[in-house]
Formats: sequence, structure tokens, C-alpha cells
Amino acid sequence: MKKSITYNASSAGTFLLGEEVPIHRLGFGAMRITGPGIWGPPKNPKEAKEVLRKTIELGVNFIDTADSYGPEVSENLIAETLYPYPPNLLIATKGGYKRSGPDIWTVDARPEHLKHCVDMSLKRLRLDRIELYQLHRIDPKVPVEESLGVLKEMQQQGKIRYIGLSEVSVPQIERAKKTVEIVSVQNLYNLSNRQSESVLQYCEKNNLAFIPWFPLGSGELVQGNALEKIAKEKKATPAQIALAWLLKRSSVMVPIPGTSSVAHLEENVAAASIELTKQELSLLDSL
Ligand SMILES: NC(=O)c1ccc[n+]([C@@H]2O[C@H](COP(=O)([O-])OP(=O)(O)OC[C@H]3O[C@@H](n4cnc5c(N)ncnc54)[C@H](OP(=O)(O)O)[C@@H]3O)[C@@H](O)[C@H]2O)c1
Repeated sequence: MKKSITYNASSAGTFLLGEEVPIHRLGFGAMRITGPGIWGPPKNPKEAKEVLRKTIELGVNFIDTADSYGPEVSENLIAETLYPYPPNLLIATKGGYKRSGPDIWTVDARPEHLKHCVDMSLKRLRLDRIELYQLHRIDPKVPVEESLGVLKEMQQQGKIRYIGLSEVSVPQIERAKKTVEIVSVQNLYNLSNRQSESVLQYCEKNNLAFIPWFPLGSGELVQGNALEKIAKEKKATPAQIALAWLLKRSSVMVPIPGTSSVAHLEENVAAASIELTKQELSLLDSL
């Protein structure tokens, strides 16, 4: 008999992206549905597709991807599996990297490259408009005004709805906002790495979505660490505690845990229903 599902990403609450579009605060990061080194197809394409289908079943309506995941593999799999998309699904993608092999990432945010990236993502994702397009990295060789300027042009052409940034400091966000409206920031942040705390605070103050990447420390936070004791007490797993902590940390926090496994996806979504007491929160804060 099929196990009935009692948990749903909606339990994480909702964030209004751009103060307009509701997304459940527990999303899905689609970087892990590619091969080793985020290169080529996944080891188990059938399971990768099952993971994507399951996200929808579990109430996830925010999926984060990038043209560089695979490259192209993640976007293609999303379209092959989920198109035609459910009406409330928001797919966010990113551009600004070039790939030449496993684990090799070269920043390229020249306007001509970004223009091509947006057009190709639209094609692969079979969309008329990308709801959230994130500049994957600011290119040190290109003034950010030029990179964002071309995204703004594409926004005016109707190809992009909202624009977000990735791996940025507060001064970089402020500079970016002089060229274009920014609705989200995606920075490395988790229980054991809080270097972006000032950026999180900036996002709270300005009501920008803060999308922490590596919410599970790229898998480091899932076992053999200080979370095990509290996880045992809550009849949860360390991964779930790490996600529940993020969700409680701020109302603008939108974690996008990544996985290639249906079982891990279910476990991660169930974290949306975990309540943490004030004591548990302060214990976790102090780790
Ligand atoms: N903006 C950026 O520069 C940037 C950089 C990196 C990532 N991202 C985005 O952020 C998303 C999340 O980051 P991430 O996927 O790299 O790291 P993560 O979510 O911190 O961790 C993913 C790793 O943890 C494992 N995992 C997931 N759930 C688990 C569970 N319940 N129990 C045990 N292991 C579990 C996964 O392996 P299994 O596949 O075996 O579950 C995978 O190896 C990415 O998918 C991507 O969309 C953005």
C-alpha cells in the first residue's frame, strides 16, 4: 500500500517574491540532479525525474536551477519532467558561468554572454518568461552595471520578470539596485557558516528573499555533528534540524536543499513541519 503523505512544503509558510508572488519558503535546489562535479547527466536519471515529480506532490513551488548545472542538464530535466508546469510553480534560474569540465566554473557575465544565457534558458525551460533570473556571479572583469543593464533590457522585453543576485555583499547589492530592482539574494549560509549574516539582515530590512545555498553544508550537516543530540530528542534527523533552524532564523529565508534522492527530498520537506522551542533555537544559534 502507498504510504500517505502528511507533510507539505506549505508548512514552511509563504514568502511574497517581489511583494507579489507567493512561494512556499521551502524550495528545491536542482543542482544535484546532474552528474559528479555537476557535470553531465545524473547517475540515475529515473530517480532524478522522480525527485522532480515528487517536489510538486510535496507542495514545493519554488525550484532553483542554473544553465551551468550540467551544464543544461538540470534545466532540460526540469522541462522534460514537469512541462506543462503547474500554474503556481516558480522556476528560478541563473546565468553568468561557463563550464568546461567537472567542477570547473568560469565566471562570464559579459552582456553578450548573459543575453545568450537568458535566451537559451527560456528555450530549454520552454518558458515565455523567466520568473526569477539570478546573476550567478558578479564578473570582476565586467562592471556590474553592464551585466545587470542587459538583464534589465530583457526584463523590459518581457523575457524576465524579477532579477536576483548570488554571492554578494551589502555594498554590491546597494550598487546593483542603482541599475535594476533586486528581489532576491542567494548566498552561502547554513548553521555552520554564517558569514552572510549582514546580508541576511539587509534582506530582512528590505524584504528581499534570502536563498541560502548549501543549506545542509553540501551534506556536511546531515550526520555525526552537534545536531545529532537535538535531532534524537525531536525524533528528527540532523538534516531536518538544520533546515528547521534556517526556516525559523528569518521570515525572508527560503532554503533550497538539493538532493538526487526521493527519500532525502521527503525528509527535507518534512522539516517544514518541525517546531523548535526558544531553548532549542538558542542552543542551535550558539553552536
Ligand atoms: N548560487 C550559488 O552559487 C549556488 C552554489 C551551490 C548551490 N546552489 C543552489 O543551492 C542548492 C542547495 O545546495 P547543494 O545542493 O549544493 O547543497 P545542500 O543542499 O547543502 O546539500 C546537498 C547534499 O546533501 C545531500 N542531502 C540532501 N538531503 C539530505 C538528507 N536529507 N540526508 C542526507 N543527505 C542529504 C545530497 O546528497 P543526495 O543527493 O544523496 O541526497 C547532497 O550531496 C543547489 O541545489 C543549487 O540549486 C547555488
